[in-house]
Amino acid sequence: MSERLPRPVIAGNWKMFKSPGEARTFISAFTRVHAPRHDRTVIFFPPALAVSAAIDALAGRTDIAVGVQNIHWEKEGAFTGEISAPMVAAAGARYVLCGHSERRHIFGETDEQVGRKAAAAAAAGLVPVICVGEKLEERRAGQLEDVLVRQLGAALGPLPAGARLAVAYEPVWAIGTGVNATPEDAAAAHGFLRARLAAAGTRAARIPILYGGSVKPDNAAALLAAGDVDGLLVGGASLDPEGFARIAAAGA
Ligand code: PGA
Repeated sequence: MSERLPRPVIAGNWKMFKSPGEARTFISAFTRVHAPRHDRTVIFFPPALAVSAAIDALAGRTDIAVGVQNIHWEKEGAFTGEISAPMVAAAGARYVLCGHSERRHIFGETDEQVGRKAAAAAAAGLVPVICVGEKLEERRAGQLEDVLVRQLGAALGPLPAGARLAVAYEPVWAIGTGVNATPEDAAAAHGFLRARLAAAGTRAARIPILYGGSVKPDNAAALLAAGDVDGLLVGGASLDPEGFARIAAAGA
């Protein structure tokens, strides 16, 4: 993979949807309507069980990559139900969502654990996609920047200098609610994150910052046009191949 991903980066987070067979059916429908193009990057995050099926179904499509939604930070061990970064790499996936809002808020994942997962992903040659975002009450209390500083800092801290990564800004109140952030709100948060990435000594301009939260075919272009928005992380609207193809075709 070249160091700088073609942008926009359009990612589909399937969450706990799609069996291996359903993943194959989706990919064959999606690739029929989304011809290869090298001015953007498409990434799918299927459930772990469907990762191999998705990778096989995407054979020959170098413009489309696959990642997983979560990992454990240890390489192996007595951790029932978990999968490790080296296993994910061996399966041929290249990206890992780290600290998705549902992991943090449903499963109690901590900032510290997110940092360990990001570091484990990088150590295995995978690209962590570090997910950050504030709850509605935090935004209302004027804590947006504090939350982003805390979550981003905890995830970057354990990462080796020069590690490849991406960031996803996903306000919790926008996920699965039908209420997306406005392009202006997204631009403000993304600009802030870019400045923090630079202050942390990363090559911030090279790090894609994706917006996520109620992205749909009809708002994708406006969100992609917002300042510092380098891509989209799409949940619900990534489950339908034709709708997701419209999102993947949006933007420059
Ligand atoms: P949504 O989910 O697009 O369904 O709001 C986004 C996400 O959780 O990544």
